[in-house]
Amino acid sequence: MQPPSTSQLYKLVSHPGDPAFRLQSTSTDLILRLPTITEISILVDILENKENSKFDKSISEATSEELETIAWRWTTISRPLTHLNFLIWHHKNPIGIAGLGWIGACDANDGSRAGAAGVLIQPFARGKGHAYEALRMVVDYGLRELGLMEIRIASHSGNVPMKMLMERKLGLRPEVREDGVDQFGNDLLWIVRKETYIA
Ligand SMILES: CC(C)(COP(=O)(O)OP(=O)(O)OC[C@H]1O[C@@H](n2cnc3c(N)ncnc32)[C@H](O)[C@@H]1OP(=O)(O)O)[C@@H](O)C(=O)NCCC(=O)NCCS
Repeated sequence: MQPPSTSQLYKLVSHPGDPAFRLQSTSTDLILRLPTITEISILVDILENKENSKFDKSISEATSEELETIAWRWTTISRPLTHLNFLIWHHKNPIGIAGLGWIGACDANDGSRAGAAGVLIQPFARGKGHAYEALRMVVDYGLRELGLMEIRIASHSGNVPMKMLMERKLGLRPEVREDGVDQFGNDLLWIVRKETYIA
């Protein structure tokens, strides 16, 4: 995955915790914003759509109430950050979700932190490069601005669009998983490390 050399992928406005906080793509019309409580129903609608969750057991097996709890959590931030999930806006339309569903300690236990990233685009907005743009913005923000040591992206090998996005478009090779699959049944794992991303 090639980082921007001189230019940034996005214009960064403010910081988490400020209502104005957003990442504005410099090459497309995408804006990533943290959802507000007035947007919980938008999040739940997106998460309830089986077309969006069929490869993600963390949401496909959740009840509506559980999805609402997840959405509520995404409208809050904690210090230190434990998650940062954005609503993806294209012009004035919410077209998906991208972000770091988990932020926590690296396995090395040396105080460094890592994140787990994901992306979801509504069916009507797919195939237009939005996932590519949103995911690389999230990865860049996590490594560059949050100082995470690595970003992990997991998926199921049956999820061909995600596999193609990661391997063909972003040029990442999956890691060999020692554990086989994670708790959500994902058998593919890609890791973007800060040391190789930001030379
Ligand atoms: C995976 C997903 C995010 C892709 O979203 P998208 O906006 O359609 O993807 P993009 O348009 O950015 O595609 C970028 C690249 O991915 C690959 N790709 C995307 N969809 C594909 C498909 N249906 N078949 C083959 N390759 C595909 C292509 O390489 C494409 O690049 P190209 O158009 O230059 O060939 C979308 O299908 C989705 O939201 N699925 C449900 C949620 C999910 O499974 N998320 C992944 C788990 S975190």
